[in-house]
Amino acid sequence: ASFRALTHLRQTGRTKGARIGHTGGLMTIEFDRSRVTVVDHPLVQHKLTIMRSEQTGSKQFRELVKELALFEGYEATRDFPLEDIAIKTPICETTGKQISGRKVAIVPILRAGLGMVDGLLELIPAARVGHVGMYRDEVTHEPHEYYAKLPGDAGQRTCLVVDPMLATGGSATAAIDYLRRQGVKDVRLLVLVAAPEGIKTVLEHDSEVRLYTCAIDECLNDAAYIVPGLGDAGDRIFGTL
Ligand code: PRP
Ligand code: URA
Repeated sequence: ASFRALTHLRQTGRTKGARIGHTGGLMTIEFDRSRVTVVDHPLVQHKLTIMRSEQTGSKQFRELVKELALFEGYEATRDFPLEDIAIKTPICETTGKQISGRKVAIVPILRAGLGMVDGLLELIPAARVGHVGMYRDEVTHEPHEYYAKLPGDAGQRTCLVVDPMLATGGSATAAIDYLRRQGVKDVRLLVLVAAPEGIKTVLEHDSEVRLYTCAIDECLNDAAYIVPGLGDAGDRIFGTL
């Protein structure tokens, strides 16, 4: 019942009050879908399936993380404003469009978020890159911040926070809190796989953040890993399994 409900919501495009069953329908997780974009283009779903397979090695996994980041970046920048610019083609003078005055910072949550940076930089070459170092305690699953460095003018930038996995939401909310303390107003969180629990936590914790994900999975297991998920993204990207 759970997954059918989610699929139905995607197909009908309903945005408010998504209702997602969990662990065989024993538990229901609800969140406001109006700030969630599921980037579920067929190519994205195909590539994500390859990533999920335990047969996929680090080299291909890394390439796919980069590619999916590019697809997500495309959606996450869809509302960027444009302005007219006069140009001359080899044929004649004309008016073209260019992005107007939108400055971007890409902020990977270390380590796994690093895998998404190159894809986004291909899309937005002028973006600056900040870093937030966060690791999950393996027992408590609480996030611990160990490093942070942002561009000096981060407050004036649209910050694309990137991390392949949104599980409990602890790491993402800690990173978003850090950005808010630095004065960042426009925060967009780009993940590849999200658990309903993490989505709910992030949306309830921060009333403005927008979330982009390639998939909303079923639930978390007892070790707070996403099910079915793809395992430990950082270990798969960096070959530290
Ligand atoms: C993973 C992942 C996220 C976090 C998600 O990082 O890349 O940052 O866990 O889990 P959460 O939503 O429950 O916080 P991890 O702490 O394993 O560090 P790593 O990136 O160095 O592998
Ligand atoms: N971090 C990961 O890398 N994978 C999960 O499933 C959960 C947290």
